[in-house]
Amino acid sequence: MILEALNYAASWPLTAAAHRPYVRSSVNLWSRAHRCANHWAAHEANCKAAIISAIDGLRQRRTAVVLGSGLLRDIPVVELAKRFDTVVLVDLVHLASTRAWIAMKGLKNIRLIERDLSGFDQLATGRQPEPLSFLRQVPYLDFVVSANLLSQIGLGAKKRLETLPVGDMPADTLKTLISAHLDGLRDIAATACLLTDVAYSVVDRAGRTLETVDLLHGIEVSDPDARWDWPVVPFGEQSADIQVIHRVIARTRN
Ligand SMILES: C[S@@+](CC[C@H](N)C(=O)[O-])C[C@H]1O[C@@H](n2cnc3c(N)ncnc32)[C@H](O)[C@@H]1O
Repeated sequence: MILEALNYAASWPLTAAAHRPYVRSSVNLWSRAHRCANHWAAHEANCKAAIISAIDGLRQRRTAVVLGSGLLRDIPVVELAKRFDTVVLVDLVHLASTRAWIAMKGLKNIRLIERDLSGFDQLATGRQPEPLSFLRQVPYLDFVVSANLLSQIGLGAKKRLETLPVGDMPADTLKTLISAHLDGLRDIAATACLLTDVAYSVVDRAGRTLETVDLLHGIEVSDPDARWDWPVVPFGEQSADIQVIHRVIARTRN
């Protein structure tokens, strides 16, 4: 509790005013990630392996961009920093704990960008969302990884929609934003590695699935290279008798 409060207080002044409302959820994620470290380890190792495998195949390694870099748990950051000239980490928030870790490791070629990657504001003003168009301005871009961000774009947009009068935003907002992210990854002139949870199931101790939720709102990611389960909420985290298991896919395209 004290560590969370310290991280929150230290992150607040380092975060732009518009993004400060997200500091709390980032600290909550940090806290849960520590509590669930054993249950999340295989997922994090799978993500790192997918990224390493993607960069092994690259001819040039100048600039890499990580979308949804967050706490850097599922990203092999040291490896990226060694193998690329520049690594750009993009997220709504970079906690003080993450910044301190980067400094402690002496990773001098890492740049942090705070940015909303959802495209929600563009859609809200009647424009076609192009949340990844800024990547066209990144010099010598050879690699992009979307790191367990896509489902969060849908969830974040759903929360924002709940605060707006019905009809203010298009009825298919969540689908449009999820598609815009996938289109953006498809259209960049660099190798793109997509890591995302696509659905979750609520499962009881007897192994019965009580509910399954599609996190991509009907949008299919075709031909993933790998799939695995991620017990995001293991037994005992929220309830003694219920766990929540997310289905994750990895896909790299050149
Ligand atoms: C499940 S976490 C993945 C974290 C990260 N890849 C890691 O290794 O710790 C999702 C991340 O997406 C970020 N995120 C959610 N919505 C976002 C948005 N609209 N724009 C940018 N980042 C966002 C969150 O802040 C969080 O860090």
